[in-house]
Amino acid sequence: MQLAGRVALVTGGASGIGAASARRLAALGAAVAIADIDEHRGPAVADEVGGSFHRLDVTSLADNHRVVGEVEAAHGRLDVAFLNAGIVSATRDDEPLDEAAYRRIVGINLDGAVFGVDAAVPVMAATGGGQIVATASLAGLVPLPGDALYTVTKTAVVAYARAMAPTLTARGITINALCPGFADTPMIAPMKGQFDTIGFPVLTAEQVAQAFLDCLAAGGTGEAWFVQPGLPAAPYRFRNVPAARHPDGSHAPIPADLDPHARPA
Ligand SMILES: NC(=O)c1ccc[n+]([C@@H]2O[C@H](COP(=O)([O-])OP(=O)(O)OC[C@H]3O[C@@H](n4cnc5c(N)ncnc54)[C@H](O)[C@@H]3O)[C@@H](O)[C@H]2O)c1
Repeated sequence: MQLAGRVALVTGGASGIGAASARRLAALGAAVAIADIDEHRGPAVADEVGGSFHRLDVTSLADNHRVVGEVEAAHGRLDVAFLNAGIVSATRDDEPLDEAAYRRIVGINLDGAVFGVDAAVPVMAATGGGQIVATASLAGLVPLPGDALYTVTKTAVVAYARAMAPTLTARGITINALCPGFADTPMIAPMKGQFDTIGFPVLTAEQVAQAFLDCLAAGGTGEAWFVQPGLPAAPYRFRNVPAARHPDGSHAPIPADLDPHARPA
């Protein structure tokens, strides 16, 4: 895929998977905007890749629009949006719900993706289209034991990408979810020892960045790309829910507008 001369926004670009992806995008010739709440590491990564830093709290719709507006003002376009900022829950499933912690993880992991799409779409559409990738997780495809809140936000990101794809196709925009397994970033520092003990091959941030580029290059939409150690990254194959039947057992087609498998031309 041609990235030279393209403009890319990376949320959560100050660290881990986002920073590794920003480095790859810049090396391939893209102008990169790093957007993050971290005002210390964010500017450092931006300097390293010759890009710009934008202080962004992804939980704010207005902040997402402001940052995309800044990117558009600087470059006149936005071609790639990697909506990647995320956190794990700091709560335990077997304890009473901490409402603030719940709002926080939904705000960052889910609102961050939905608001990022809302901000990016009009700017991308104005120049004929673009590509959006939202970082979900393998926890968007299989539950992460002990972190139901993380699981529900990441499952929602997968569902959102799948649900939005047909609508965005009509505007020349692709949207996919990236679903990495455990990757060696600050996020998993507290549990890294468990993997080391059994010799589990945790992904590197660079491997996830490569999967992100593979997803872009494939050019599909509405896909959820799993990224697992030792395997090529690829779209997860969802099984279709069995179709409805009439009382006589014959196939019962649903209205075309409500058919999840229909895609606008
Ligand atoms: N590391 C893993 O094992 C793993 C696995 C699957 C998915 N993921 C997902 O990958 C993405 C990147 O995580 P990472 O592993 O690189 O972790 P990381 O902690 O290294 O990076 C996360 C980044 O998100 C930023 N961020 C947090 N809250 C923010 C907010 N409100 N607004 C803007 N930025 C904010 C942080 O400042 C940080 O720079 C996350 O969505 C995460 O859920 C990570």
